[in-house]
Amino acid sequence: MKKAVIGGTGIYDLNIKSISKEVKTRYGVVKVDIVNHYGEEIVFLARHGKEHTKPPHQINYRANLKALEKLGVKYIYATAAVGSFNENYEPGDIVIIKDFIDFTKTRVQSFVDSQTESVKHYDMSDPYCQNMRGKFSKRSLTKQLKIKGDAVYVCTEGPRFETAAEIQMFKKLGGDVVGMTGVPEVVLAKELGICYASIAIITNWSTGIRDELNSHNIKDLISANKSKITEVFMHIFLEG
Ligand code: HPA
Repeated sequence: MKKAVIGGTGIYDLNIKSISKEVKTRYGVVKVDIVNHYGEEIVFLARHGKEHTKPPHQINYRANLKALEKLGVKYIYATAAVGSFNENYEPGDIVIIKDFIDFTKTRVQSFVDSQTESVKHYDMSDPYCQNMRGKFSKRSLTKQLKIKGDAVYVCTEGPRFETAAEIQMFKKLGGDVVGMTGVPEVVLAKELGICYASIAIITNWSTGIRDELNSHNIKDLISANKSKITEVFMHIFLEG
């Protein structure tokens, strides 16, 4: 099983018949779905759990990534719900993440354990796979899925939203959108040598950008795009 999708908020399946499987890792047990797509098995993992019970700061990111590695996964498309503080990216828009700025505080970000291994460092000049980003951009055209652009993702610890002052700071630092789960997921994928790309759905304006922080219905904005996004993933996976 070489290919996987990690579904974020609002994306809990691939709309294809699946069987569930539990994968044991040294970090914990992970539940995944396996779908058979035209003869190829693809793994689906709901980041927050199928019932959305795991908050961003309590997701077992290391177990998730180890489980995918154990299944043989080499390519991951992930989705993320994000707030926007870039005036060009509005609720309902879709952007491709190109880089991140990390403001998480309590998360273990590495598999490297100095007790058992020599010290290693990982290149972060290209955290999100360029090839997978390019393919998504190209293939979304054929599904009439509009991509608004690419974005720098700021990751916060959550589960609280950001203050208006924090958002102003993130803007000055060069961010575009904010979410709570992108780090350490992308970092751990990199450590394992798994190609990873993240597609973000903008669900709200960030705090202080407009008056209406939470006036958008997150579920509706995501479900409007869910099947198109997952169809593009499947289409790309089918191509090889
Ligand atoms: N902030 C952090 N995470 C989020 C947001 C936000 O505004 N919207 C969706 N996930």
